[in-house]
Amino acid sequence: MASPAIGFFDSGLGGISVLADAVKALPREDFLYLGDSANAPYGVKAPDEVLRLVRNAAGGLARMGVKALVIACNTASSVAASVLRDEYVFPIIALEPALKPAAESGGTGAILVMATPLTLSSKSYRRLHARYGERAVPLPCPGLMEFVEREELDSPGLHEYLDNLLSPFSGQQVDAAVLGCTHYLFLREAIRSHLPRGTRLMDSNAGVVRQLIRRLEGENLLTQSPGPGKVEIVSTGGRDKAEQMERMLRRYSER
Ligand code: DGL
Repeated sequence: MASPAIGFFDSGLGGISVLADAVKALPREDFLYLGDSANAPYGVKAPDEVLRLVRNAAGGLARMGVKALVIACNTASSVAASVLRDEYVFPIIALEPALKPAAESGGTGAILVMATPLTLSSKSYRRLHARYGERAVPLPCPGLMEFVEREELDSPGLHEYLDNLLSPFSGQQVDAAVLGCTHYLFLREAIRSHLPRGTRLMDSNAGVVRQLIRRLEGENLLTQSPGPGKVEIVSTGGRDKAEQMERMLRRYSER
């Protein structure tokens, strides 16, 4: 019997950056990706509203029979991960900004934490910050994910946004910038060009994929099929959005 798919979820196409790494690491698995583009962005909404949307999406993926769920969105994870873990028996893998590895990799300079306003004001981020945030500077980035959704990865408008956000740090000692939203991984090069030379860019993708593999192994859920697996992408924003995500997946996988 075929093994069920691994579910992936994001408010839009940011989670495609996580999916690309997971497909590479688990080429025999089937994946089902849901982007809630019709309701994006999540990061400027109220927590209750995001919780309602994420529950809705998780319910849809559960009905489609996924064997595990990766919440490939820091914002959705920050408000909904613990609630969903009480509601479903399959493994739920969530993301958090990579502040812990950034803090633990040494240095004395600032660690910029770029994420949505909702992620940075959440209880789960505040806990993380209390523990590892001595050098952290939270930088809410409302409006930044929209550049990615419009595939503006190097536009004058994007560079103007990043200049306003990051120029106050030029000439300062910055050790790392945490990309605390899965959309921002598509903007790596643009973001890097506005940071002091030598700033490390940190994200959680590799850790999340390792955790996914550990959980599937631990619960004996890895597929026995010889593969290659299928990747299906659906979007609440319609077929055009899903096609854009397929394109971004190809592009990101080839990097
Ligand atoms: N990709 C999402 C994240 O990782 C959020 C973008 C949004 O919907 O605001 O936080």
